[in-house]
Amino acid sequence: MTSRLLTRTLQRPIASSSRARLSSPSPVSRIASTSYASPRHLQARFNSSFTFPSATADSTSTSGASSDPAFEESSSHATGLTANGKTPKALAAFSMANKVCMVTGGARGLGYEFCKAFLDSGCTDLAILDLKEDEAQAAAEELIKAACVDSDFNPNDYRVMGVGCDVSSELSVHLAYRRVMDTYGRVDSVIASAGIVENYSAFDYPFDRIKRLYDINVHGAFFTAREAARHMIPQGGGSIVLVSSMSANIVNIPQPQTPYNAAKAAVKHMAASLAVEWAKKGVRVNCLSPGYMLTKLTRTILAHDTELKRTWESLTPMGRMGEPEDLAGAIVFLASDASRFMTGSEIRVDGGYCII
Ligand SMILES: NC(=O)c1ccc[n+]([C@@H]2O[C@H](COP(=O)([O-])OP(=O)(O)OC[C@H]3O[C@@H](n4cnc5c(N)ncnc54)[C@H](O)[C@@H]3O)[C@@H](O)[C@H]2O)c1
Repeated sequence: MTSRLLTRTLQRPIASSSRARLSSPSPVSRIASTSYASPRHLQARFNSSFTFPSATADSTSTSGASSDPAFEESSSHATGLTANGKTPKALAAFSMANKVCMVTGGARGLGYEFCKAFLDSGCTDLAILDLKEDEAQAAAEELIKAACVDSDFNPNDYRVMGVGCDVSSELSVHLAYRRVMDTYGRVDSVIASAGIVENYSAFDYPFDRIKRLYDINVHGAFFTAREAARHMIPQGGGSIVLVSSMSANIVNIPQPQTPYNAAKAAVKHMAASLAVEWAKKGVRVNCLSPGYMLTKLTRTILAHDTELKRTWESLTPMGRMGEPEDLAGAIVFLASDASRFMTGSEIRVDGGYCII
């Protein structure tokens, strides 16, 4: 195994030629609106005299590459190799091998990164749900290709399927699960990542758009979780992660987004409430709350507004926006058996935004 492989691998298993495979129907590939996330009584304090060192270092870049040497250095330490070049033990509970995973909104952005983190952690059976089936399938093919680089696995070892699904429709979610169950027979870890954000002031926000936002962000998460539990309970359990936001805890500035913030607070409390309902049935429900992350969409928005990026960075103690990969550890932890005594909790991954 090369050191390059180990560098990019969280916990991929070694392929076994005798590995039993279920039959896979054709959809299985073998081979807008966004900007997110208070004190903002503290903003004047930040703006006037103090800037975090790394906030100034890369304040205009939209490439996503950090220029913070400490960040680069800590990333390079994560090779998985000891100083003598040997592979150390890794906690098996973090492995996603033999788990069927499902990610809504997985065709791009954070959802796509969650899919990647699962494949990099040993998962080989994955369903990607997104609005357009062709985009979900394209993501599936791209992910398989990436997973096979520097790996003992080949495309035939993976069953990643793209499924068209509108999470705001209960029927659409029901039908998508039916296809997933027909293909894999079970589902172990489900991530509700599909979501949108829009920036309107309260007086200007058209009601039909507010309703749509709640339909996707709140009801979509509920339909996704409820349908998951309906399958997980009879099979003995599973893990559900609802993607909330630091906006569940704070009020973002300068952009107005009251319905989004309220929706994400609802998602956070939904996770806690469902966790209590299903705690004794083996189904865990937690939420992951990212801070400002550099996804493809936020990069595009920020490319035209470097001032906004500077503001967000200056309000973040770590002085930078998050890379989507910064969520990989947290999502694998929540989805895997490593978090088996954890339910109803929130993990914030926000560079410290909420603590000041
Ligand atoms: N990017 C951030 O900075 C950030 C911060 C905090 C929380 N979040 C949350 O993370 C999640 C993902 O955000 P992102 O930045 O990756 O957004 P994104 O726009 O890049 O991706 C969202 C995905 O969800 C899909 N989607 C939208 N509506 C859908 C629907 N009705 N049914 C099925 N799929 C649908 C989109 O097609 C897209 O693939 C959202 O819930 C968002 O609120 C993002």
